[in-house]
Amino acid sequence: MHDFELKKRQITDRVDIVTIASEHVRLKRTGKRFKGLCPFHSEKTPSFTVSPELGIFKCFGCGKGVDVFSFVQHRENVSFAEAFRMLADRAGIELGASGSRSGGGTGADRTDIARANDWALQHFRRNLESETIGRTARDYVRNRGFSEGISQQFGLGLATDGDGSVLQAAQRANISPALLTAADLIRQSEDGRQYETFRNRLMFPIRDATGRVVGFGGRTLGDDRAKYLNTRQTALFDKGRGLYGIDQARSAMGERGRAVVVEGYTDCLAVVQAGFPEAVATLGTALTDAQVDLLRRYTDEVIFLFDSDDAGDAAADRAIRVALPRCIRARLARIPDGKDPDDYLLRAGPEAFSDVLNRAVDALEFKWS
Ligand code: UTP
Ligand code: MN
Repeated sequence: MHDFELKKRQITDRVDIVTIASEHVRLKRTGKRFKGLCPFHSEKTPSFTVSPELGIFKCFGCGKGVDVFSFVQHRENVSFAEAFRMLADRAGIELGASGSRSGGGTGADRTDIARANDWALQHFRRNLESETIGRTARDYVRNRGFSEGISQQFGLGLATDGDGSVLQAAQRANISPALLTAADLIRQSEDGRQYETFRNRLMFPIRDATGRVVGFGGRTLGDDRAKYLNTRQTALFDKGRGLYGIDQARSAMGERGRAVVVEGYTDCLAVVQAGFPEAVATLGTALTDAQVDLLRRYTDEVIFLFDSDDAGDAAADRAIRVALPRCIRARLARIPDGKDPDDYLLRAGPEAFSDVLNRAVDALEFKWS
């Protein structure tokens, strides 16, 4: 694909037209669309319509319309090239001529980091599939009830126990230590020694909505005090903006008219495996505005699944406060007996789990009951 077309698609994949338009128009959802008073002409009844699904807007009063670029052009009174630049900026996309110019002080830009992550996914995957190296980890995956299929679908992998194999294999693949550092695949100790960020961990690649690997979560396979370790903030990874599984769940969300949000990677896997492909997980932080905006592009209803404990209460409260102002229907479900979705599915099965989802309470009722 031509570089320009590629950039344009990355931008439209990442900036939400409803979010942009909402900065200028008060929008209300009607079915699959949003409506409001047109910002381009004066009117008393709303004929300005936005379709997040198609990424377009149209005013049936004055006739102005088309995509997020035209919206910014009209609204800011700028050329297409300027609108393109402004939106690229918002999407965090660099507009170097070849798309591989260096950014920041790291010498690596987002495209390079994505390449390193892609390579790392394959590397971790090969470890897991290796007859000898991967045996214990594969047993772990199987003992937790995850199928070979789901492991493959989510690209699970294995980071071995700090044997330097990441550095060595990367070198053979022409990925420099500087790039590994920029991707947070290796870190530097105080005495200047380089070590692998993920050691003896089951690896969960984290992708953005377009399927690009932006970072990793790793669960210890030993007794490391940090049960999970996530990629630090990099030029590509921001744990408050992404959702685990979004690349696979987005079409199911459209079809099923809802998203299911859980709190753990393994919960997401278990829920998808049980027949709920509309599931995603947060990345180890409380729910953010950006995550709700992301969901709102694919669905208008979200079921939040929380544990039944104090932390779960706090998370539910937070989810309500973030979701409600953003024109999305929020429902809250509680997993019984202080279990997480993964434990509950193993014990009670998909039907009981489905009932839990169906019993989810509207956030508004929850708030007032
Ligand atoms: P949980 O501790 O509930 O783990 O963390 P879990 O998903 O049930 O893990 P298993 O079943 O023991 O494997 C939920 C999420 O919180 C983040 C991760 O994103 C995790 O998936 N987390 C948790 C961390 O980032 N670091 C941690 O040390 C623990
Ligand atoms: Mn769990």
